[in-house]
Amino acid sequence: MDTSYNPETGLKQGNDRLTAYQIIAAYLETKQPLKTVINAHLDDSMPRIKRNFIYNLTKGTIKYLLFLDFGLSQFCKRKLEKMDPTVLILLRMAAYQLMFMQKVPAYSIVDQAVEMAKTLSHPKTANFVNAVLRRMSKIENLYQVFFSRIDALKLKPEKRFSLAYSYPLWLTSYWLDCYGIKETEKLCTTLNRNPFLFIRINEPCMNRSKAAGMLNLEEAESAELPPALAVSNFKVSSLKEMACCPWLQEGKLNIQDLSSQIAVKYFLQPQPGDSVLDLCAAPGGKALLANALMERKGTIVSVDISKKKVEEMKKHFRKIDAGPVDILCDDAAKLGALDQGMRFDRIFVDAPCSALGTISKNPDVKYNRKKQDLARLAAESMQILARARHFLKSGGKLTYYTCTLSPIENQQLIQAFLRAYPDFSVCGSIHRDLKKFTDRKYLEIKPYYFDSEGGFACTLKKD
Ligand SMILES: C[S@@+](CC[C@H](N)C(=O)[O-])C[C@H]1O[C@@H](n2cnc3c(N)ncnc32)[C@H](O)[C@@H]1O
Repeated sequence: MDTSYNPETGLKQGNDRLTAYQIIAAYLETKQPLKTVINAHLDDSMPRIKRNFIYNLTKGTIKYLLFLDFGLSQFCKRKLEKMDPTVLILLRMAAYQLMFMQKVPAYSIVDQAVEMAKTLSHPKTANFVNAVLRRMSKIENLYQVFFSRIDALKLKPEKRFSLAYSYPLWLTSYWLDCYGIKETEKLCTTLNRNPFLFIRINEPCMNRSKAAGMLNLEEAESAELPPALAVSNFKVSSLKEMACCPWLQEGKLNIQDLSSQIAVKYFLQPQPGDSVLDLCAAPGGKALLANALMERKGTIVSVDISKKKVEEMKKHFRKIDAGPVDILCDDAAKLGALDQGMRFDRIFVDAPCSALGTISKNPDVKYNRKKQDLARLAAESMQILARARHFLKSGGKLTYYTCTLSPIENQQLIQAFLRAYPDFSVCGSIHRDLKKFTDRKYLEIKPYYFDSEGGFACTLKKD
């Protein structure tokens, strides 16, 4: 028996496009986070080049789903909703490759899709796939052609952005209401770009020149980062061979988005000797940064609701000898596990949010969220803040952070909190490094400020 063929699909084993197809089909069926589905289908022994191809193809196809469907609808007489779902996924994957993966020859994209249609669907549908894709593959600059066709339709901005950048209509409408046309378009395009990664140097265990030498990071940029973070970060477009660097495992270097670092460094501003309550804490990146800023002097109590994540965090913190951090499993809206008499100098709430600021890393967030989620999540965060305030010393500071761009969960929630608890006020003035981005005392971190995730940070002070 020829073992190089998969007995279930009849396709060659190790066929990367088949794996990508299975991931996309599983995601569309289960609506589980795409990251979870991808990880369930990829094994660590797979060569990096194969993994990257599968990542790019699956994430890219999902990222541009609505745009691809618009393009396909121009080439198929049959309505896409009536099409065999398998065939539709194969067409979407092929259209994505024709548009965005220029290094792959068009004939190979078409041939593979036709082969897969034969085995996964029906030989007759393979003829249809062949006909559609051959026509598409003859068009030069396919992406631009579809984009111009959408422009020519003269749609209202919410519909145009929804199709052209592939965001659900409720979200483009909401952002247009909040931010206007120019900023909404900028958000849509920036969040569709491949994300940058930030590698934070955990001083004093590591220093910049040693890390740069070891990681071979000549290309790493730091010029555009806020000054207080530029020296301790490398901004890179991918991890490549660095992923296996032991310093990442040992905690000497941490992969941590810049927006979280901004929240800790410029808003929480923990000082040596402080007591800090860190809510919604796992996997613990912000606790580690706070600990470093406090020079490991003081106490941090980290709380997360997930038992599994708490166990993993404890294990990791023990392994890297993280220092004075207590890790508890509890609901931050209850905090029954805390000594009720405890009072902290600073509290950090990393609120459970809609995560719209992370779309460049997790494109499925676009479709998995519904408008009603925003108000529900804001209500959950409000409960956490209302509970957290009991544990703050008079004169203490409470930092609220989200990785989302949704005023309901951010500015409006802070306003509601201040109305309910008049003994709190928004803290001081914004740090000079951030002044050019806001005229308020809080910061809405737009992803195009520093090529980071989007988010929101604000510090409140208790009388
Ligand atoms: C964005 S992550 C936090 C990241 C973390 N602060 C860090 O810097 O690594 C959100 C976390 O909030 C936790 N969470 C969600 N709801 C919670 C609640 N009610 N109480 C405590 N933790 C919660 C989740 O389990 C998840 O680990």
